[in-house]
Amino acid sequence: MKRQWIAAALLALAGISGAQAQDYPTRTGTVIVPFAPGGPADITGRIVADIFSRHLGQQFVVENVVGAGGTVGALRAARAKADGYTIISGHMGTHAAAPSFYPNLGYDPEKDFEPIGLIAEQPELLAVRKDIPANNLKEFIAYAKANESKLNMGHAGVGSVSYVGCLLLNAAIGIKPTMVPFTGTAPVMNAILAGQIDYDCDPILGPLPHVRAGTVKALAIASKKRSPLLPDVPTSYEQGLPEFDCAPFYALFAPKGTPKPIIDKLAEALSKGLNEEAVQKRLADLGADIAEPNRRGPKALADLVRSEIARLTPILKAATAK
Ligand code: MLT
Repeated sequence: MKRQWIAAALLALAGISGAQAQDYPTRTGTVIVPFAPGGPADITGRIVADIFSRHLGQQFVVENVVGAGGTVGALRAARAKADGYTIISGHMGTHAAAPSFYPNLGYDPEKDFEPIGLIAEQPELLAVRKDIPANNLKEFIAYAKANESKLNMGHAGVGSVSYVGCLLLNAAIGIKPTMVPFTGTAPVMNAILAGQIDYDCDPILGPLPHVRAGTVKALAIASKKRSPLLPDVPTSYEQGLPEFDCAPFYALFAPKGTPKPIIDKLAEALSKGLNEEAVQKRLADLGADIAEPNRRGPKALADLVRSEIARLTPILKAATAK
């Protein structure tokens, strides 16, 4: 009885009746993507919005809320009404790395969200401008050191996963390029294609079409194993740079206090969607490793966020100090 009272009180605090939580959703929902359209975060967020639209019977639309390495969108989501109609497609940057870079972040990834579920992990590539005279990591390191003063690295804002990946790379190599912020890595890719930016570190699905078209070169994958999509691109480990290891997680979160029946519906819809053959093929074709069923639920995601913050904090502090 006491438990029912507590549940009812929590729903009342969120301004939602038990019946509303049971009927959810009755109107359009918003998935905040905290980066520019066309990049890995956006493409992943749109796949998820489509899953929710099909499995929950109401339209879910993507809203790109960009800025400050994804933390502007994450803060918006943290402060949104906890009614299940605003959720965020976040990632390792917004929900694990950001506290290392922003002392006044304005949200706590662990305390201010209800985890919904892990979507996928995506290893990063070192993607370089086509006319950089380097075809592997060793040649890139030599080029970067010789041209350090004019080297431009693109990233999606301090604390974003493209920033984190290249921070690890730069620290391991011992270079300090000019780090140019963008609102996402889709615009970084355009700048690489235009010759304005020399390189970035981006989850594989960003550079993939350009690498396949031969307009951008991929020199390393930041992972222990090669990708079947680019089997000729050697890993950072094979090339003697294991510090360049970055395969960010992508996951969904709702504002703290979102009623459990709503979180459960969202988590179930996500898992059903990730089981669909067409979704699995689409994500695999984009280079994403889909979360196994036992890693998908809210509890597994809460554990992942906690362990990633603990793992990354000392690594990022050391890399930043270098
Ligand atoms: C993007 O999707 O624009 C970027 O990959 C985000 C990021 O670097 O964190």
